Amino acid sequence: MPGSPTDDAADRVRRAYEKTQSLDIAEVPASGEELADLARNWQADELPGLQRTIADLQLANLAQGIVDPVFAALATALKAVDLPSFSLLDAACATGYYGEVIHSLDPRDIAYSGCDYSLAMIESARAYYPDVPFSVQDLTALTHPDRSFDVVLLSGVLEHIPDYRRAIERSSRVADRYLIVHRCPTTSGPTHERTIGTQYNIRTPRTFFSLGLLKSEFSDTGFELVKSVEVYPRPGGWRRRLRRMAGRRLKGREQRGTLTLVFRRREASGRP
Ligand SMILES: C[S@@+](CC[C@H](N)C(=O)[O-])C[C@H]1O[C@@H](n2cnc3c(N)ncnc32)[C@H](O)[C@@H]1O
Repeated sequence: MPGSPTDDAADRVRRAYEKTQSLDIAEVPASGEELADLARNWQADELPGLQRTIADLQLANLAQGIVDPVFAALATALKAVDLPSFSLLDAACATGYYGEVIHSLDPRDIAYSGCDYSLAMIESARAYYPDVPFSVQDLTALTHPDRSFDVVLLSGVLEHIPDYRRAIERSSRVADRYLIVHRCPTTSGPTHERTIGTQYNIRTPRTFFSLGLLKSEFSDTGFELVKSVEVYPRPGGWRRRLRRMAGRRLKGREQRGTLTLVFRRREASGRP
């Protein structure tokens, strides 16, 4: 039976993604020192081209009204930002394509800017979007002034940073009202699972965050969780029943997921 246009679009993205995974080796648990050795791997020159292959397909789908689940999750999360217009720093923006996504899915006046610690990514972002302000910045050492953006977006990045706590501290300093941790890998367990995985052609740190622990780490920097969105919503019907059965078998074991989390500065709740 032929699939729907949405299934075909998702398949095209999945197949393109699989093609770019030239270093697909098994994930292993890792110590802090082992992760630290990989901290700079995302600065490789080939990554902007590889990442953009996928983003271009997702953007082409979006132009036809087919919204990737990962974009839909961000659009839902943005609804929790209780501001009529705002500035947003995409603090690991890669080639800057989330600017297009946000402007296409949220009608508000959103002043988008981006930064990334990879010069290659930022050069590519500037070539695609010459009118957008971009800068080279490491999330663990952001130089932006205190509270200089209404919203700071951390999309697909915290899990790749060995010293993610420093990244939380620095981005909390720069965010005036909200921090959005988009497509965050999570575990139902009580502690973070720290691993080394692969993406594209690199080995990369990959942390699966315990939601309870992550919430307390954001609370330490003055932010509270106000919304959590499942990036890949649960299937209905027989798929749901199968998942429930698998869930029963997995009972007692940690389960992983992908969430988009909106944190609000605690004092912000009483502000106009
Ligand atoms: C998986 S990609 C995600 C890109 C984009 N935000 C998205 O959601 O598609 C990870 C991005 O984080 C950037 N990155 C990794 N470590 C970083 C750090 N310490 N500071 C700033 N950017 C970092 C990489 O260069 C890369 O662009």
